[in-house]
Amino acid sequence: MSRTSAVVTGATSGIGAAIARNLAAGGMRVTLVGRDGDRLDQARRRILAGIPDAELTSERADLSLLGEVRSLAERLADPPPDVVVSNAAIIADVADHTVEGHQRTLATNHLAPYLLLRSLIEPIGTRPARFVIVGASPRGLARMPIDVDDLARNTSHDLGSVPSLRPLVAYGRTKNMNAMLVYALARRLRETRITVNGAHPGIIRGTRLGHGNRRGLLRAFAAASTLFSSGSPDTGADTPTWLATAPEVETVTGQFFVERNAVTTAPHTTDPTRCDQLWDESARLVGLGHGA
Ligand SMILES: NC(=O)c1ccc[n+]([C@@H]2O[C@H](COP(=O)([O-])OP(=O)(O)OC[C@H]3O[C@@H](n4cnc5c(N)ncnc54)[C@H](OP(=O)(O)O)[C@@H]3O)[C@@H](O)[C@H]2O)c1
Repeated sequence: MSRTSAVVTGATSGIGAAIARNLAAGGMRVTLVGRDGDRLDQARRRILAGIPDAELTSERADLSLLGEVRSLAERLADPPPDVVVSNAAIIADVADHTVEGHQRTLATNHLAPYLLLRSLIEPIGTRPARFVIVGASPRGLARMPIDVDDLARNTSHDLGSVPSLRPLVAYGRTKNMNAMLVYALARRLRETRITVNGAHPGIIRGTRLGHGNRRGLLRAFAAASTLFSSGSPDTGADTPTWLATAPEVETVTGQFFVERNAVTTAPHTTDPTRCDQLWDESARLVGLGHGA
């Protein structure tokens, strides 16, 4: 019998590497997605060192570029995966724009999962599949409503008076988009056998998130947050892995989880009208129609 297959984005580091290892340990054929060939090789070798019979494939794609996300989706489509864990994220400078003109945090953390998951719906067709989107703390993000009419504004405007913290505010808004995408996508997948759920991994130490971009108060904030850390990347990988594999959540969809418990996220993220606006604006930015 052929193994079930999973795709994990951002599998070269931190929580994504731990999720990929967990899925491989559970017997899945795992495709590691990363933007750097050497880091992909290292991640692959680390998993094989612990699980010699792991079946691993690597796909190099810079997810901040929609063109690369599109061609990744094409490469993943035949045969389509049984599980997709959208985990890659970044805290980029607010002035950092891709050659395609999108702010890098918005492109990597929101537009990429939107385009990748949408693009895989048709190839998956009538098969069962699970999408898991790694978001962030619903409590921490409750006071960060996003502007659904102009997504680019979320990473460029009203980011607060402390310059060094602005990348974190922009990042937080894109993580609220992750929760909204879960709800918007789940409604559009009602007639399919594809589920989609979100997960907050916890405040996790020992990852590379925001490294290279920690200055001033952001550096102090990152240091302070390790005091409240809920654990290592293994801890952070637990809920996403469970959503990707556990029989008890096989048909659960459109929920957001913290420590394996379904939680309610802020009303500004659950409002169906706002989620529809996010969907339509995202479609416009990635050049797709409004349908699923
Ligand atoms: N750590 C926490 O406390 C925490 C808290 C809440 C939520 N989260 C979420 O957990 C997830 C994983 O974060 P982490 O802490 O494990 O961070 P991490 O160690 O920095 O891992 C992020 C992964 O995303 C990849 N990535 C970044 N930009 C990419 C791009 N343009 N194309 C392809 N891959 C790209 C990175 O690749 P490289 O190896 O090439 O850099 C890396 O594999 C994220 O969604 C994050 O928002 C983390």
